[in-house]
Amino acid sequence: TAAPLAYQVNLSDHALGEAQRNALLAGELGFGKRFTDHMVAIQWDKDRGWHDAQVHAYGPLSLDPAAAVLHYGQEIFEGIKAYRHADGSIWTFRPEANGARLQRSAARLALPQLPVDEFVESLRQLVAVDHAWVPSAPESSLYFRPFMIASEAFLGVRAAQVATYYVIASPAGAYFAKGVAPVSIWLSEDYARAAKGGTGAAKCGGNYAASLLPQQEAQAQGCSQVLFLDPVEGKYLEELGGMNVFLVYRDGRLVTPELSGSILEGITRSSILQLARDRGMTVEERRVSIDEWKAGVASGEIAEVFACGTAAVVTPIGELKGKDFAVGDIHAPAGEVTMALRRELTDIQHGRAPDRHGWMARL
Ligand code: PLP
Ligand code: COI
Repeated sequence: TAAPLAYQVNLSDHALGEAQRNALLAGELGFGKRFTDHMVAIQWDKDRGWHDAQVHAYGPLSLDPAAAVLHYGQEIFEGIKAYRHADGSIWTFRPEANGARLQRSAARLALPQLPVDEFVESLRQLVAVDHAWVPSAPESSLYFRPFMIASEAFLGVRAAQVATYYVIASPAGAYFAKGVAPVSIWLSEDYARAAKGGTGAAKCGGNYAASLLPQQEAQAQGCSQVLFLDPVEGKYLEELGGMNVFLVYRDGRLVTPELSGSILEGITRSSILQLARDRGMTVEERRVSIDEWKAGVASGEIAEVFACGTAAVVTPIGELKGKDFAVGDIHAPAGEVTMALRRELTDIQHGRAPDRHGWMARL
């Protein structure tokens, strides 16, 4: 095993003064709009492996126009948050799980695997210089966006032999404009997000590029996210554009689509499954047809539906709409089980409840 990377840290001037930054952190943060003062960059090439780890000023990248990422989309990313606890300490949630997923994404996209320890260390390095950017307002966090690109200047179609890993960070509030209010979801009937044998289980930019047109269609229909069905039969739920999905049955069962090979294995999803088991709920990871959702909501057998992910946390789904149907009531209050699971998860993340599964890591 290689020695840990030695970082070169080049501190920059702060873009905002302390008072301005604190005012910004206390306001409406939204999602992904402002970025901290620094970023991490680590180089990789086939001969030297990972090297030249740096923390430097946040700013534009200089990239050869022939860089493979710009032509063939060889890119992967992660999403993970840092939380400020009441005593001021800064923690993150299950970082080894994100590090392992980045490795799986790298394997699928023929990119190099960053050791999980180096993934966690890269978050620590950024927080060490930008800790003042971790907000303390309720339910706020610092969202890390680690990503890796094929930076080799070569137009032949093969796995790049030069890659760069970066981490940027952005103070975050609610992902959806209406906070935790129930959202409407649009069923994508014409487009799939992923293919059998494709890259659906990897967190790569191309999956999101493919989701943008259906996402636009959703927004045109007054919905805030799009639901994709399985790409083979077009019958079974997969996930939303950027979130996993759960159904809560009136009899206490919690159901989520099984990992099909084409959906992203969400870390929030796995945590929710654990918290539900802890509560004594019956959890089912299995195929769920769109007809089961429609009929279950119509009959009342399905009491609640929610989406979950790092950015979205746990967001109630009030309504599902498609070309010729609508089920659910967007004006109904968020479901009790949804909100209880949301509270349990965020209490652990924000240090208000015991971390009984050892999920939290201090940064
Ligand atoms: N599904 C997709 C397509 C996503 O982009 C995300 C967000 O990361 C998730 C699911 C949820 O994953 P996680 O809970 O690890 O953030
Ligand atoms: C995340 O939740 O981290 C994601 O990457 C999803 C995206 C919708 C922001």
